[in-house]
Amino acid sequence: MKARSKKTTRKAGSASAATKSVLSDASLHLMNTYKRSDMIFTHGRGCYVFDQNGKKYLDFLGGIAVNALGYSHPDLVKTIRREAGRAVHVSNLFHNPFQGPLAAKLAKWSGMDRVFFTNSGSEAVEGAMKLARIAAKKKPGGAAKTRFLALEHSFHGRTLGALSITHPLKYREPFEPLVPGVDFVRLNDVADLEAKFTDEVCAIVIEPIQGEGGIYPISNEFWKRARELATQRGAALIADEIQCGLGRTGKAFAYQRLEGLPDIVIVAKPLAGGLPLGAFLAREEFAASFAPGLHGSTFGGGPLTCATGLTFLDTIERKKLLANIRARGAELKAGLKKMAAKFDFIREVRGEGLMIGVDLDVDGAPYVAEALKQGLLINCTHDHILRFLPPYILTARQVQEGLSKIESVLARTERPAKSAAVPSASAAAETLAAAR
Ligand SMILES: Cc1ncc(COP(=O)(O)O)c(C=O)c1O
Repeated sequence: MKARSKKTTRKAGSASAATKSVLSDASLHLMNTYKRSDMIFTHGRGCYVFDQNGKKYLDFLGGIAVNALGYSHPDLVKTIRREAGRAVHVSNLFHNPFQGPLAAKLAKWSGMDRVFFTNSGSEAVEGAMKLARIAAKKKPGGAAKTRFLALEHSFHGRTLGALSITHPLKYREPFEPLVPGVDFVRLNDVADLEAKFTDEVCAIVIEPIQGEGGIYPISNEFWKRARELATQRGAALIADEIQCGLGRTGKAFAYQRLEGLPDIVIVAKPLAGGLPLGAFLAREEFAASFAPGLHGSTFGGGPLTCATGLTFLDTIERKKLLANIRARGAELKAGLKKMAAKFDFIREVRGEGLMIGVDLDVDGAPYVAEALKQGLLINCTHDHILRFLPPYILTARQVQEGLSKIESVLARTERPAKSAAVPSASAAAETLAAAR
């Protein structure tokens, strides 16, 4: 008995020394770009993830919309193991067995024709911008068609091109000058869209449901008008589906609840179940503007990531996960709406499928911290919108487990001061009314 307790003490001691060493390496040698707590996640299973002390968390953040099949999903593990032992990389100078089939499957899901694979969302946004530029140049008056439109509160990534069409000043300003010729249109404001959609525009980039911006859906009226204007002006309508696409909202793509197909679609996050893989997809009329040498990527579309992407999409189809996303999403939203009636600092619950935001009129950070303490992973965008992006494999029981944790978090957290960042209730109501 004595010997066993000694062993346990020694193990715990060395575990904490290992933790200290990991955190010290991170603090001395990682660039200072993220505020992180001192916990280290070591492994996960299904919708749960575990930290270095073995504490279990229900994951309602899913690696920010990446771990759509949860952790260590057996189908993904099988594919990754198999391909890791065959060929992880062969270069884009040659075909691999999975890139073509994954492109075909994405084309079928999206209504697009051709695909280019990348390593990240931002890289896919860059490629989509280049494709829109070169396609516009081939149209009458094309030499002048170089401007981009994006929406207020948009987020499209951190590389210079993607950053140029990302709206919040805090991300853009420190790195200016960026790509010139970008205008931001007010969300769902058709008059503003019409005023800014000039002949010089080569593309408008829209998240059909804004993610980082606070889970704001695009209205059908706005989308339809953007579609019409893009066609009239010879510009591309680009859907950034990096966060809201590939099943997240209960449809294959979030634009599928709107009237009219985009010309270019951008995906990434969950595509290879957590391995880095993104893509931009285009209708033939646009894709035809690329020729060998105009665009490329060393890692994009390798055999390991594409095989895993195929398994990811097959699993969604085989396990009928779109129906599960709709059913679990409806339960989660209904439960959160009930809480909104109880806690007066909840202004709004909005979203589709398993992409849900709870808009608070107070700072959200203390609620995220309390959730962590209670074993629930969530995050907060725009300082006051709690964001839920759980895995597609979520069960009804896990929805209830999550709801009871959220209720306890909302009840136990000392109410913070009113958030300065909250827009006026009337502005928010206008945005929501327009979105319906
Ligand atoms: C809508 C949207 N576009 C682009 C990006 C950038 O993707 P990545 O971080 O993979 O470069 C993100 C990331 O959060 C996103 O949510």
